[in-house]
Amino acid sequence: MKTNESLLNERNKHIPQGPFNVHPIFAEKAKGAIIIDVEGKEYIDFAGGIGVTNIGHCNEKVLEAIQDQIQNYIHTCFHVVMYEPYVELAKRLNKITPGDFPKKTMLVNSGAEAVENAIKIARHATGRTGTIAFEDAFHGRTLLALSLTSKMKPYKFGFAPYAPEIYRMPYAYCYRCAFGLEYPSCELRCAYFLKEFFATHISGEQVAALIVEPVLGEGGFVAPPKEYFRVLQKICQENGIVFIADEIQTGFGRTAKMFAMEHYEVAPDIVVMAKSIAGGLPLAAVTGKAEIMDHPQVGGLGATYGGNPVACRAALAVLDQFEKKALLTRAKQIGERVLEKFKEFYEHYPIVGDVRGLGAMVGMELVVDRKTKEPATAFTKQLVNCCREKGLLMISAGTYSNIIRPLMPLVITEEQLERGLSIIEDSLSELHPK
Ligand SMILES: Cc1ncc(COP(=O)(O)O)c(C=O)c1O
Repeated sequence: MKTNESLLNERNKHIPQGPFNVHPIFAEKAKGAIIIDVEGKEYIDFAGGIGVTNIGHCNEKVLEAIQDQIQNYIHTCFHVVMYEPYVELAKRLNKITPGDFPKKTMLVNSGAEAVENAIKIARHATGRTGTIAFEDAFHGRTLLALSLTSKMKPYKFGFAPYAPEIYRMPYAYCYRCAFGLEYPSCELRCAYFLKEFFATHISGEQVAALIVEPVLGEGGFVAPPKEYFRVLQKICQENGIVFIADEIQTGFGRTAKMFAMEHYEVAPDIVVMAKSIAGGLPLAAVTGKAEIMDHPQVGGLGATYGGNPVACRAALAVLDQFEKKALLTRAKQIGERVLEKFKEFYEHYPIVGDVRGLGAMVGMELVVDRKTKEPATAFTKQLVNCCREKGLLMISAGTYSNIIRPLMPLVITEEQLERGLSIIEDSLSELHPK
């Protein structure tokens, strides 16, 4: 029988270190919110393959759709011979994404590819070159997406030169406000700063797009104040800038709405989606205003595998289940429970510096000292490892890797959720500096 250790040795022999691994274990099976490793050890999954399995591992309806599709055809390339599942999925995404205006959708393979295409489309539509992105943002690892990503180590370090014409401003990260202010007395200085930004960094009429996550994912589950995006969007509109929402991590029910921008009552010009869109198969989408999406010439956009039919069928099965709304209700309950528990941790453990979130996207920021807010990076790693030993898989986030960000499948049972939270509690109590 293969063990985790023997497979790890093989992995290290044949695979470079760059593609990282959080946990030194290998999967044998996964179902719902449970992963079983090759040694038969069972784990509660609070990572969800980094937010990909909102619908749960090996969801029955997704499996049925995949099985059905592979009997017919697996790949023709949409650009050579078209197929209905692509069209059907585009139609449904056009309908459910925020905004009551005509929309069009193109499908690609990964989040980074969706981001790249969104920027290409915005540049084409505006005839401009600049893009504004944010501090603590994560948009992927391909060159343009990486250039939009903010964190230096390990993501960007050693990979320069980056794509040009990218300008970065602070996000509404209230716990670590770049302006040293407090909400609401700050009067959203960080959002209105965009106007100053045009004077000091890049003139508004040179900006093609502003790309922003509705809640920072990799940046550490930071949800801006309610009016933040409305202010940003208004300034973009005044300057003819395409407003792109990166809903790759926030989408498909994670925040207890289908898309996080619904909480903010903002309809972006373009929305990019990936991760939980297809229940675990690689698929991503760019959905936007029809007149913007239609701008690039025929052949200007595409990808060999983009909108693979098996992945499209899986995505349609995911959408069918979200339409019933129960998963969104469940996301809300999960979020409330996790927030309640994390607040308890805040009361008991000084290492917990901040607790925050939106829907089931609830984060806990760990700091060495609540006054200085020095990130507790090493402790966070220990906590993640200790939880794994006790049967819970978690991942961290944040520019300083000091934020716990649960991304459990939304189908997690009460019992599994409680067991997972108890493991965090036990680990905190065991590791916490006395
Ligand atoms: C907000 C956001 N954008 C883009 C990406 C990149 O997606 P992918 O890894 O599928 O390229 C991610 C991945 O974590 C993400 O969280």
